[in-house]
Amino acid sequence: MSAAREHFGSRIGFILAAAGSAVGIGNLVSFPVAATKSGGGAFLLMYALFVFLICLPVMMAELALGRKSDKDPVGAYRQLSGGSKLWRIPGWMALITPFMIAVFYLVVTVWVLGYLVETLMGNLSNLTSKDHFDNFINSKSVFLYLIALMLIVNGVLSKGVRGGIERAAKTLMPLLFVMLLGLVAFVLTQENAIIGVKYYLIPDFSKLNTSMVSKAMAQAFFSLSLGMGIMITYGSYMKRQDSIPGSARSVAITDTLVAFTAGLLILPAIFHFNPEVKIKELEGGAGLIFNFLPKIFLSLQNTIGYGGASAIAAIFFFLVFVAALTSLVSIIEVPVATLRDERGMDRKKAIYTIAAIQFVLACACAMSSGMAGWLTSFVTIGGSEKSFFGLVELLFYDTILPLNGFLVCVFVIYKWKRANLDRELQEGDPAFAGSLSQRYVNFALGTFIPLILLLVFIITV
Ligand code: PHE
Repeated sequence: MSAAREHFGSRIGFILAAAGSAVGIGNLVSFPVAATKSGGGAFLLMYALFVFLICLPVMMAELALGRKSDKDPVGAYRQLSGGSKLWRIPGWMALITPFMIAVFYLVVTVWVLGYLVETLMGNLSNLTSKDHFDNFINSKSVFLYLIALMLIVNGVLSKGVRGGIERAAKTLMPLLFVMLLGLVAFVLTQENAIIGVKYYLIPDFSKLNTSMVSKAMAQAFFSLSLGMGIMITYGSYMKRQDSIPGSARSVAITDTLVAFTAGLLILPAIFHFNPEVKIKELEGGAGLIFNFLPKIFLSLQNTIGYGGASAIAAIFFFLVFVAALTSLVSIIEVPVATLRDERGMDRKKAIYTIAAIQFVLACACAMSSGMAGWLTSFVTIGGSEKSFFGLVELLFYDTILPLNGFLVCVFVIYKWKRANLDRELQEGDPAFAGSLSQRYVNFALGTFIPLILLLVFIITV
């Protein structure tokens, strides 16, 4: 078997790496638009409650599972269940889920990288042409970008936990904060920016309904990288003397602050570009990043010239790229850790094996936007045709996470048992013992949190 397990070198190293995982494309683009469409300040308030009252305890539970077992998710469930066959299932789900999300996320990050390179080459104006996005994602260059991206991500992973993951997070996360704040400061000085801020912040409670509440919950869960085996794996790299509750709190706060701040970038930018924009028609995902935002950036040339506009666009795409990169690193580390722990492979061999399979699947995903007909119309679900990319997104990105979270709660409280969780959470944090937070975490994880997660799963399905 492998040598002694690697650990993060410092508490801040762990926090930055886990926050790097949590801060992703979701924070920067999906969150601000979802918030604005679903009641502004009302959504923000509800989201914050979900993060701290529901998601944070789950994060603590995942970290505790990892640190106690010193294993990847499959190994953690096996070991802490005493080898139960039934409890192997959530272990495997916590492996397959990140593996498949990574495939999907690699493709989206490839598009971001492509747009970044185009902007740096002075081609911002091309990005705004009508069919540019469709043409780009169906061009051969996506394969080159995919190879480049995989070399970067796996290059970081090959340097190990401390020299790779932690070091990258310590460099990239401060850079991300600076870029984000710089862009916010710039955008807020633009004309009509304040209209966007108002839409984003002023609460409208009448917009809240069951489906929105469920979406906010799912978004919070996704944003904190829960249900993906990531926190179990990162937990296994935590030192025993570090506080799990304290570190988890810092990660949740950082992730939420970044998402909140991104709103102060995206909404003012949209309203500066078009003060009459219809909130209902705004799109949060790929449409916003690849179609709408380039137009906004280009329009800046009237005030700061083409060079200035290109620079702002490049910083933005670099920001999204960095956020996606640190998320990819964390999610690909899960299957890598599994091969190392379960199969005794060394790090390099595990990385090559995972990379080879993911490359093939990512190519299939990339080709399913039109390049290959059979992948483009891969399956028909409920009467609508789905591409291979769409299927992976539907199953793993949109649906399965709350179910995985439900299983974490039930496992920790009813199989592994409360006392063991308590012991692990107190280790490195003696003040947690007997505190109100501890009683809350302990009670909530065994009662309403799994119920809510199950409900969100059912509503989404
Ligand atoms: N929290 C990430 C995001 O907001 C989710 C994620 C983590 C996605 C890791 C992929 C990999 O985008």
